Amino acid sequence: MEERRLGPVVGLGTWQTFGGDAAAAGAVVGSALEAGVRVFDSSPMYGGAEASLGAALRGRRDGTTVATKIWAQSAPEGRAQYKRQVEWFGRVEIEQVHNLAAWREQLDWLEPERAAGRIDRLGVTHYAPSAFGELGDALRTGRFDVVQLPYNPHERDAERELLPLAAELGIPVIVMRPFGEGSLLRRSPPAEALRELGVETWAQALLKWVLSDPRVDVAIPATSKPERARSNAAAGVPPWFGAEERMRVEELAA
Ligand SMILES: NC(=O)c1ccc[n+]([C@@H]2O[C@H](COP(=O)([O-])OP(=O)(O)OC[C@H]3O[C@@H](n4cnc5c(N)ncnc54)[C@H](OP(=O)(O)O)[C@@H]3O)[C@@H](O)[C@H]2O)c1
Repeated sequence: MEERRLGPVVGLGTWQTFGGDAAAAGAVVGSALEAGVRVFDSSPMYGGAEASLGAALRGRRDGTTVATKIWAQSAPEGRAQYKRQVEWFGRVEIEQVHNLAAWREQLDWLEPERAAGRIDRLGVTHYAPSAFGELGDALRTGRFDVVQLPYNPHERDAERELLPLAAELGIPVIVMRPFGEGSLLRRSPPAEALRELGVETWAQALLKWVLSDPRVDVAIPATSKPERARSNAAAGVPPWFGAEERMRVEELAA
């Protein structure tokens, strides 16, 4: 798989997939690892997903990147979340402030963790375009190393300010919701259209649409199905789409 600044370009999300089911997590994560996935995104907001992801990665954690989040309204609550994450994962490579929640307060204790080498990168996320102004302000402080935002043919707000800003500041981008939470996959275009795009599945076409934007570092599709983790990962190899192929995907998604 192609690697960019955060490693292989297809990662794995964990929202509403295996939850606290460690056996299910083991199957999906195992399949993703075999297919070359290394970035695993989670959050305290995703039920038991962090604990089951931690269990699924046990014994095969080398070379993986855990990108989880702090989702708390106070620093003590945030620190308590971090303490549990260290128990589950050993360490956290990318620690993100979820939905900008109390981001200045969280940064005040997260920055010393990063300075001590216990966290590699600090990130910040939001799913809603109404919060993109504040997300931009947070990036402009220079205190974050990574941003996570939604990007797919139906959600292109990030193209206006955030993707150009991240590129200007040299900040790597994690793309959430590459399938619009699955809404873009409810119907698939005809097989002929997929063949012309050089892909086997509509999901792969959507991932290639995202990853063909050079400002994106990694997309984190979520799935509860091991075979889909494998086929999604297969989208992480060149050739990438040019302008015409991207437009074709947009037409097919319309
Ligand atoms: N949604 C948010 O607001 C949000 C916010 C912050 C962070 N994130 C992070 O971003 C990750 C990705 O976003 P997301 O989970 O919201 O949505 P997504 O990845 O765009 O879509 C996930 C959905 O797509 C389906 N799917 C996956 N691969 C498929 C395939 N090959 N064929 C058919 N269906 C497929 C999954 O169903 P099956 O399980 O049936 O495969 C699941 O319902 C999250 O898991 C989380 O880690 C999300």
